[in-house]
Amino acid sequence: MAAPRTGTARAGTVAVIGAGFYGATTAQRLAEYDIFDTVVLTDIVEGKPEGLALDINQSRPIEGFETKVVGQTTSRDGEGYEAIVGAAVVVITAGLPRKPGMSRMDLLETNAKIVRQVSENVARHAPDAVLIVVSNPLDEMTALAQLATGFPRQRVMGQAGMLDTARFSHFVAEQLGVPIADVQTLTLGSHGDTMVPVPSACTVGGKPLTELLDQAQVDELVTRTRNGGAEVVALLKTGSAFYAPSAAAARMARAVSEDSGAVLPVCAWVDGEYGIDGVYLGVTAQIGRDGVRAVVERDLTADELTALREAAEAVRAKQADVRDL
Ligand code: LAC
Repeated sequence: MAAPRTGTARAGTVAVIGAGFYGATTAQRLAEYDIFDTVVLTDIVEGKPEGLALDINQSRPIEGFETKVVGQTTSRDGEGYEAIVGAAVVVITAGLPRKPGMSRMDLLETNAKIVRQVSENVARHAPDAVLIVVSNPLDEMTALAQLATGFPRQRVMGQAGMLDTARFSHFVAEQLGVPIADVQTLTLGSHGDTMVPVPSACTVGGKPLTELLDQAQVDELVTRTRNGGAEVVALLKTGSAFYAPSAAAARMARAVSEDSGAVLPVCAWVDGEYGIDGVYLGVTAQIGRDGVRAVVERDLTADELTALREAAEAVRAKQADVRDL
């Protein structure tokens, strides 16, 4: 059995809304970091978050962490949300996942209703929290959560770029047969059809990816990355990915909680950077206690910049639609 860490303070509460596979594995990862006092997991399915919390807590002696997980059933109109009072970070996973053949955008109307309601309840009970949205379609749900909470835009971000980047890195490492630690990749843009993998920013053992693979090979990996979520959905048939997504969301919550200043690919409010005005979009941003400290602009090729601006216009149109949903 692993010994719990001693001599290190655990602090704060982080809440995860939605106890599907994505939410439950996010709660598990956050608990296993052993840096929080409490991880709160909520869901509208009676007993589910309590049962999952009990199960995770019973793994504590084996995995060796002290953080406690609290499960709480909530109602749509906000009963049970007292459990998230004081949370410094709230991860919103509520919503339906895709079924095979669906695009993330097919979830827009259904998940907009859920995310709006959840966001309003979160704003009432954790008005100072940093929000990390993971519900799909991601860029639109992030914009909607900001509208519904009225939180400052810097305090609301979405998880997508870390996941898409992780998928890209995995595919590159597999293709070249190199350790994952040697691979650096980057994706920007939307978490959807206008995702912008950025080969010019990718390196393997410090060498540019474009020197190690020819254009056709890079294009193939880019396409697989763009379809990375759908590939998993098609195999699972009953839901979408959650191991890599939850790893990404939990790392973001940790960066906020530790006020780390890490520069991560996230969906953040972009206003002026890359010549793009006022839209939630996948970019690299410096993350701290108050959410996004700053969007960090990268050098892009002319083609990559064009693709990023196209992505911005595509998500801008859809983000305008969510206002009325
Ligand atoms: C994915 C979903 C979670 O990309 O958006 O797997």
